[in-house]
This record gives sequence, structure tokens and C-alpha cells, in this order.
Amino acid sequence: ANIRHYKFNVVMKNMTKLCSTKPIVTINGKFPGPTLYAREDDNVIVNLTNSVSYNVTIHWHGVKQLRTGWSDGPAYITQCPVQPGGTFVYNFTLTGQRGTLLWHAHISWLRATVHGAIVILPKRGVPYPFPRPHTDKIIVFGEWWKSDVEDVIKQSTQSGLPPNLSDAHTINGLTGPITGCNNSHGYTIHVETGKSYLLRIINAAVNDELFFKIAQHNLTVVEVDASYTKPFNTETLFLGPGQTANAILTANHPTGNFLMTISPFMDTVVPVNNATATAFLRYKTNTTQSLTMSKIPPINATSIAQNFSDALRSLNSRDYPTNVPLKVDHSLFFAIGVGVNPCATCINGTKNIADINNVTFVMPTMALLQAHYFNKSKGVFTDDFPGRPLTPFDYTGGNKSIPLSNLQTKNGTQVYRLEFNATVQIVIQGTSVIAPESHPTHLHGSNFFVVGKGLGNFDPLMDPKKFNLVDPVERNTVSVPTAGWTAIRFIADNPGVWFFHCHLEVHTSWGLKMAFLVEDGKGSNEKLPPPPC
Ligand code: C2O
Repeated sequence: ANIRHYKFNVVMKNMTKLCSTKPIVTINGKFPGPTLYAREDDNVIVNLTNSVSYNVTIHWHGVKQLRTGWSDGPAYITQCPVQPGGTFVYNFTLTGQRGTLLWHAHISWLRATVHGAIVILPKRGVPYPFPRPHTDKIIVFGEWWKSDVEDVIKQSTQSGLPPNLSDAHTINGLTGPITGCNNSHGYTIHVETGKSYLLRIINAAVNDELFFKIAQHNLTVVEVDASYTKPFNTETLFLGPGQTANAILTANHPTGNFLMTISPFMDTVVPVNNATATAFLRYKTNTTQSLTMSKIPPINATSIAQNFSDALRSLNSRDYPTNVPLKVDHSLFFAIGVGVNPCATCINGTKNIADINNVTFVMPTMALLQAHYFNKSKGVFTDDFPGRPLTPFDYTGGNKSIPLSNLQTKNGTQVYRLEFNATVQIVIQGTSVIAPESHPTHLHGSNFFVVGKGLGNFDPLMDPKKFNLVDPVERNTVSVPTAGWTAIRFIADNPGVWFFHCHLEVHTSWGLKMAFLVEDGKGSNEKLPPPPC
């Protein structure tokens, strides 16, 4: 294994999109930021220098951080933010991991512009479990606001109203041609007939789950969230923020120029931004300007989103077995969604807030990991996070006589404690009472297996009988369907404090988050080492 050194300088940079220019926070002046390349088992060292006036941290999304929880990055969970003028060294090893992931800022909404790809190649000499593609292409989805993104979230948290929708989506930082904007253009992939390409696709958008399509080209998904899957062929890819996929594209036309699009998915009734970003797949033989269009999925194409997620299966081969825990030590039920809190200064006297089991997580002022490690948790956090909601009810919004108490939340900085190597099952039930929305939910520090999923209220008697314990897909972020549930299992084999939250930034900001505290084990390599100083 090698050591890979990177220098991340946080700097402001002026960028022009949608005919207007604004300064944004970037790494090394790039949007998206630099790609981090490594091989499985490599040691990665990133020297971060903060040269802007914001506090910054970086999270390596999907990197398991075995015994290196100090480098995980979420502000006030595993580290204090790096202040203006400050530096920080992220040092971690990609033990047993390969595939495509992403890194992003993990404080406030800075990840809107501070994000990039992580490409982890297999160990030298180890082939992919699929025919080797001609070459790789990285495709990063983003969202763009004309105004300052930090103002967007400030306004939303103060007013208790949903934040302004983004003004555009981007593919590798570009919106594609915009009417009336002369110098806007689109990302282009140049391909040769007969060759196949490994697309490393990353959804780094802030609040939007997205569909991805290339006109007249199917994609074969071979990996999601850096875990191999059974190859599966699809017209449309569906990724929530934080999710990644590797898909093989075969250039099987003699020539042409084909439209590539990303478009949002939301099955909600509120007015939504339907902006589509466009890019191009262009054959090298093509000499014309003609463009083959594709049919963009409607914004509420729930079945396309569901079918995509339902089709994913882990590879479960001899070389890549699926080790899903068969017995469960902690069986948890998390009701997640949007609730209400009284708010004197807000319109209508209430404020939208998000919660898990009626707890709206409040950020501490000292990082939880430090507080835990140095036995200073008193006054910082408690370990009584509820394993189930206070009062079960109909989560689908079908029952109109819901007592208000079920929607009200209380503020707390509570963690759920797990002993080393405990096996955990969480049934994540989406509550669609106030806002019907699907939630891409992310766990730090471990991957999990998606053992079940369904619409309506989870049935504890019938639904577990249908769980897939053979080849469930392994992920770090999973979509919990609107008015439905998703069941996941993982092993708490990584001592530390691990954030668990909805990856839509608006919901994270509103409190749809909590943390697991995984205790040290007895063995010498079953403990979290002291913080690097
Ligand atoms: Cu990609 Cu806690 O985030």
C-alpha cells in the first residue's frame, strides 16, 4: 500500500453561472474540487489550510475510518471546525474499500461548493469483477444558487420556512446551455464506437435526489456507494445526495451526439424547481451539430426511483461475499420526518423542524468524540437517545386525527450507545404527515445492508419475514421512501462517535440527525486510538 498526500487549500474564487458572478468557497480554486485518487488499503493524508473567513471541516463520505474516527470530519461530532487561518491533517486508510465515493465540507451548507470525487482503485493486480472498461469518466452532480448559499440557509433557519430552491443543477460544475446566457456550456464526454466506459457518478447536490439519463444509451450499474452489485441494466439512474454509482456505458452507436440530463425527483405537492442540467455524449466520428434528445423523467416519477432502488443487489460472490448479520442485538425503530416547534418570531407561531423519534438534534459546542474520549460528556451529550418513538401512530398521513404531541419534538443532544461488535437493525420509518418527502439517510463509520423496504407503516409481524438476508445491497446512504420505510443492518465494529442523518442539507439543518457511540472492544486493536495532536 502507498501513502497519498494531498494539499487542500480552502480559498474563495469568483465563478460565473447563469450569467451572474459570485465568490464561492472552494478547495484549490476548483468547483467541483480536486479528485482524490488512491488504491484499496492506501493511506491518505490531506493537509487542509483554511484561507477563508468561514469555519471549515471536510468529511470523506463513505470512508469507514476504521480506528481513525478523528478524521471523519463532521463539525462538532468528531472535530472542532478549522477556523480561518487554521490547519488540520486528515489521515486515514482505505482498508478493504474500493470504488467511487465523495468528499465534502461538513459544516453549515458549505458542501454546496466544497466537494469532489474519491476514486479508489482495486489493489494492484486485482481485476474488477466485470470486463475492464476502456477508461473512466467522473460525473459529479451539483446544485447552484445565484445568491450566497450561507444566506439561503440562514434565512431558512431564522424564518422556519423552506429554503429557496437552487437556481440550477450542474454536471461537473456546468449547467449546460441556458437560453439567454451566452457563455454557458455543458460537460461533454467524447467516446469511440465499440468501446465501453466506466462512469463514476456522484450526487453531490444539496437538497435534490436526481435522475440521470443518456439518450438512447442504457447503463449497467456494477457498484453503488463503493460496493459491488450484481450488474443491472437501466435506462435511468437514481441517486440521492451522498450516493454514488459506477455504471458501464457502451458506445454502441456508429456516430452521434446524445443529450445527457440530470433532473430532480420529489414526490411532494409543493412547487419545486424543475431545472434540468444538460451535458453531452459525443462520438468522435460525429461532425454534425444534430443532437439526440432524451425523455426526462417527470419530477414525481416515484416508480422509476423505487424500481431502481429495488433492483440493487450486492454481488455476493466468492471473492466478494455479503456478510449481513443474521442475528440482531439492537432492534431500533426510527421515525424520521418533519415536525413542528413553537416559534414566537415565526410566521404562524410555529416553525418546521425535523426529528428522529421526536428528538430534534442540537449541535453541541464541543465535539462529541472529544467529549466521549476524554470522559467529558457531562453537559455535552447524554446517551439516552430513544430506540423507538414515544407513541407509535399512523406515519403515512392517512389518519387525520393525529395528536399534536406526536408531531412535536424536543431539542436534545442525545446519542445511542452500542457495545463493540453489536449488531444493529434500524427500521427507518418516514413520517409523511407534514411534508411528504423521501429521505436519503446516511450513516458514518460503517456501511449497512438494506434488508427491506416497503410503503405504508412498517408491520413488525409480517415485514421481517420478507427481509433479504442473502444479497441485500451494501450502502452508506439509503433512500427512505415517502410514507414508507427502509430496514438496514450493520455491525458496530468501529469504536467512535458516528453521525446518522438525512443527507438533504435542509433536513440536517432542521435537526434530522443523531449519533451512535460505539464503545471500545477489549482487544488491543479494538480501541479508538488517541487523537493525533
Ligand atoms: Cu455526506 Cu454526514 O455526510
